[in-house]
Amino acid sequence: MISFPLVKTIEGIFDPIQNDIDELNDRLINRISPDSHSLCSILQGIFEAGGKRLRPAISFLLFRALRFAGREELYSDSEDKLFLVTEIAELIHTASLVHDDIIDNSLIRRGAPTTNSKWDNAITVISGDFMFARAAVNLAKVNINKVVEIFAVVLENLCSGEIRQVEQKYNVDTTWDYYYLKTYNKTASLFEACAESVTELFDLSDKEKKAIVTYGCNLGMAFQIIDDILDFTSDEETLGKPAGADIKEGQINIPLLLAFEDLKLKDPEKLAYIKSRIRNIPTEDSPITISTTIKEALKICNETGAIDKSYSKAIDYVKDAVTGISFLPESSYKEALVKLAEFVIKRKN
Ligand code: FPP
Ligand code: MG
Repeated sequence: MISFPLVKTIEGIFDPIQNDIDELNDRLINRISPDSHSLCSILQGIFEAGGKRLRPAISFLLFRALRFAGREELYSDSEDKLFLVTEIAELIHTASLVHDDIIDNSLIRRGAPTTNSKWDNAITVISGDFMFARAAVNLAKVNINKVVEIFAVVLENLCSGEIRQVEQKYNVDTTWDYYYLKTYNKTASLFEACAESVTELFDLSDKEKKAIVTYGCNLGMAFQIIDDILDFTSDEETLGKPAGADIKEGQINIPLLLAFEDLKLKDPEKLAYIKSRIRNIPTEDSPITISTTIKEALKICNETGAIDKSYSKAIDYVKDAVTGISFLPESSYKEALVKLAEFVIKRKN
């Protein structure tokens, strides 16, 4: 079994906020304490298993960068509110993965067995529900209506993204509009919320708020595009979850969309062939045939330059993200925000 230590630092990027991350981990691992013993140990196990804490890091770094810039804080307890916001983001993210693993029937995540692989679906669903509930309790404690709205909309987005993903399974004729909307809904919206909620703690102009929201949203779009690429090109040991799962599950993501676009012009016959192979995955009960289809699809993606083009799209998003925060004065926090954006592209899992 592959095991990941709790990710404390990502190549040193989190150094300026390591105390914040440590405090957050302590809250998540040791201080959630539901009164059910099994729920308590499930949650503890999940948060101990790792996770990059990328979403909280966005909030911590933006908050510290704005404080460093001397921007006026709107609340005397803004630091408490910041910790609540980061906990909310990680709880919502983790809960959505716990539910997603049931939906996708995934048995391994972050190099460890998923909750649904160890417990029945009832317990697993309730564990996710409990995290959502705790996020709601924390939202009430933040006590800023706009922040409640920001995260409530994220919950809607996550559900719409996930349902769209289920509805569009194996639809090889899916569209770019659908792909971008799904990517925003299921991933970028939460990154965006982590940035936007911090803007509510400071007295900022609309232009500054928009720039910070741009950072979060674009980073999230890039993050998901890289996720889609890695699912195709990486392996289980590196990813901490099975590779090739998206195509097997009928997800037509960016590398395939780009490959289809290329083949439409250059080799319609090959396009029809690979589309029919993917469309037929659910009726195929031979794992060898399915894995051959995945290999063929990857070969086509490489031949058509779709993997490189997908990376280019992610890089464009990251450039826009970094432009968004250019108004911030130089600091170790701003430097980390830029490095975080670069890491999203370079990451291997
Ligand atoms: C991972 O996608 C899944 C998500 C990012 C969001 C899942 C959202 C839900 C289950 C709905 C949330 C429910 C509520 C009540 C808010 P993936 O399967 O592409 O990624 P993976 O390969 O990491 O599993
Ligand atoms: Mg999944």
